[in-house]
Amino acid sequence: MTAAANSIDIDDLGARAETMIEALGVISEEPTRLVRRFLTPEHRRAADLVAAWMREAKLDVGEDALGTVRGHLAGASPKRLLIGSHIDTVVDAGRYDGIFGVVAGILAARHIARSGIPLPFSIDVLAFGDEEGSRFPATLASSAAVAGIFDPARCAQVAADGATFGDAIRAYGNNPDDIAAAAYRRDNVAAYVEVHIEQGPVLEADNQPLGVVTAIAGQTYFTVEFSGEAGHAGTVPMRLRRDALAGASEAILFAERVAREYRGEVVATVGRLVLTPNAANVIPGNVTFTLDLRTTSDQTRRDVAERFRNEARAIAERRHLGLAITQTRDTPTTPCDIRLQDGFAAAASALGYKAPRLPSGAGHDGQAMSKLCPVGMLFVRCRGGVSHNPAEYASPRDMGIAVAALIEFILRFDVGAFSR
Ligand code: GLV
Ligand code: MN
Ligand code: MN
Repeated sequence: MTAAANSIDIDDLGARAETMIEALGVISEEPTRLVRRFLTPEHRRAADLVAAWMREAKLDVGEDALGTVRGHLAGASPKRLLIGSHIDTVVDAGRYDGIFGVVAGILAARHIARSGIPLPFSIDVLAFGDEEGSRFPATLASSAAVAGIFDPARCAQVAADGATFGDAIRAYGNNPDDIAAAAYRRDNVAAYVEVHIEQGPVLEADNQPLGVVTAIAGQTYFTVEFSGEAGHAGTVPMRLRRDALAGASEAILFAERVAREYRGEVVATVGRLVLTPNAANVIPGNVTFTLDLRTTSDQTRRDVAERFRNEARAIAERRHLGLAITQTRDTPTTPCDIRLQDGFAAAASALGYKAPRLPSGAGHDGQAMSKLCPVGMLFVRCRGGVSHNPAEYASPRDMGIAVAALIEFILRFDVGAFSR
């Protein structure tokens, strides 16, 4: 055990994490459920609270054009270890997804700043605002900007609430022209690491508070639109209908069937469906839905996507429907750097935990950050593996252990091994 480990108070860190998570958990667009989407007034309030915590932790605070809050702790060299996660949420979210990673980064940097331990490198704690994609069709805009891979064409994307991305940036008080300035210089960055709740049941089943992530599964998103003809539910005979919902339903069940063929390797989700005109006595004229495909095999994901496209075309032809399929995201599987994996395993081991290795089915900002630098992730056990659900929960003890492991990781981090 390192000297630093002796001075780490896990229960204090866990209690602080819980208090911070409670404070962020009440900043919501809606009174009865947690919804905090990118570039909304609630994103602003959450970002301000995070900035205040960073200042209290003795970090220098800045913010970029997409609202990413950055807390800087200067070390002997300007080369940075980036530690981040996100403060946006899904609709009807739990309080821990993303939020805990930001809180963990702040608490770890705070511990190091207060202990006066000299660091041979600098730290930036990053609070991203667009990991969930709850507002605009594509996602990871904030981390893409930081990684220098943001596509300016995205500023024309339109949210379900009617705002363009560019308008939303301006309404947040920022200028889309400044997005390019959010990018780090590659030679200034050593690595990006993120602590996150597991969002799955593996660590709980293994009775382990921590896990080391091996890779983040690739994701392909489509927006699929079937168009038929709205008509009277009582007068149009079945054989003469062009029912967009019946066609969409066939396609959705096909996606489920194909994913199941791969016996656990592939997941396919239709999470959003918009029906027009959405009236009980009108044949649906138009249906638009999202399809989210994930697997750690990029080839398998491409195969499944191709089979889905072919089947949707066949359904549309048979039913005389219009069809438009737009791919809104295609992110390959992101491997986690083996040195960072080993670093997290060593940190966990110093605290007495074995930290099994496991892949992440959930998406993370590390997918975009991997275009800038090596990435690594540490998972924390969450109750029942439940996430994207208000019942999401990680215990203060487990959170304290995770922050302690992050501190241990930072103190062991060999910046020289990450020089370019
Ligand atoms: C983000 O949480 C995702 O995996 O969809
Ligand atoms: Mn997340
Ligand atoms: Mn999430």
